[in-house]
Amino acid sequence: MNREELLALLKPEITRIDQTMRNDLAVINNTLLAEIVHYASFSGGKRIRPLLCVLSARICNRDDDDLYQLAIAFEYLHAATLLHDDVIDHADTRRGQPSVNSVWGISAAILAGDFLHARAMFLFGLQCKSRCLELISHTTGAMVEGELLQMANARNFNQSEDDYFQVINNKSALLIASACETGAIFARAGEERITALRSYGANLGTAFQIIDDLLDYQGDPQQTGKVVGNDFCECKMTLPLIHALGRATGKEQDRVLGLLAGPVEERRRALAEIRELINKYQGFARARQQAGQYIERALTELEIFSSAEAGPVKKILTSLGRYILTREK
Ligand code: IPE
Ligand code: IPE
Ligand code: MG
Ligand code: MG
Repeated sequence: MNREELLALLKPEITRIDQTMRNDLAVINNTLLAEIVHYASFSGGKRIRPLLCVLSARICNRDDDDLYQLAIAFEYLHAATLLHDDVIDHADTRRGQPSVNSVWGISAAILAGDFLHARAMFLFGLQCKSRCLELISHTTGAMVEGELLQMANARNFNQSEDDYFQVINNKSALLIASACETGAIFARAGEERITALRSYGANLGTAFQIIDDLLDYQGDPQQTGKVVGNDFCECKMTLPLIHALGRATGKEQDRVLGLLAGPVEERRRALAEIRELINKYQGFARARQQAGQYIERALTELEIFSSAEAGPVKKILTSLGRYILTREK
């Protein structure tokens, strides 16, 4: 299945997810809150997490309106973390538009994020038993720990690959894993299937964040809708740079560490130089190769679903994995 075929199959799902969100968000009374939440929720997000929740339940043979209510809770949780993340990362742009914090200010962005978090928890409570609630609360807590770990790492110039993987597991992979796992639990699947879908999501989510970190250096802002080079400006040492520093000469290391300790304007001016350094030591290529390995692991987890029974959905989950590796936004 090529990208166009995949996107055509996902389109009706995305329309249904969007419609469920529109109906649900009609509960908001406050005009300003409604404006911000709509702005943040309908600005071109890919809907990866709700899609994975829906597809995971469907591959375990459940598909109904309640499933979509559950799925949108994952989009709310994701949108809430992005609202807060853009405050933390001083990001002015999101999905090609000014970020909520840059239009309405930090306080409004935090409050709108809190509302979406609360609404997500309400929907989880409505649709899930305690097992899912426990899982989702744990995941949300882990995301906070991931962001805090990343803040601590920004001052740790000896960051290892393990440190990096711990951050991305917490801040990104666990939410995607939980969307898959929750879909399977919701469909009352057996433990073996629940575990396989969770692991599919965790591996996919890890690759997803590695690619996000590559796009931060190499992406086309017209496509990603985000500013290029923000991670380095924010002193976030992501996988390509960690690889390069591991092989660089002492002089090159000192130059990078000097930049990381200095003012943000100097880092911004040095972006092309840093990109060149990463290229020189194959930092981008190695990171991309690792993302590929995570996708392969994710796809192996789908083997327990027989193609005869789960054919069409299995194909979509497989193509989604491959799409993530080549995505440009
Ligand atoms: C961005 O996620 C944040 C990460 C975890 C990398 P997405 O790339 O899924 O963001 P949208 O919702 O599609 O804009
Ligand atoms: C993912 O990390 C953020 C969350 C999981 C909240 P990034 O900070 O790299 O995400 P973008 O690049 O801003 O979308
Ligand atoms: Mg960010
Ligand atoms: Mg990023």
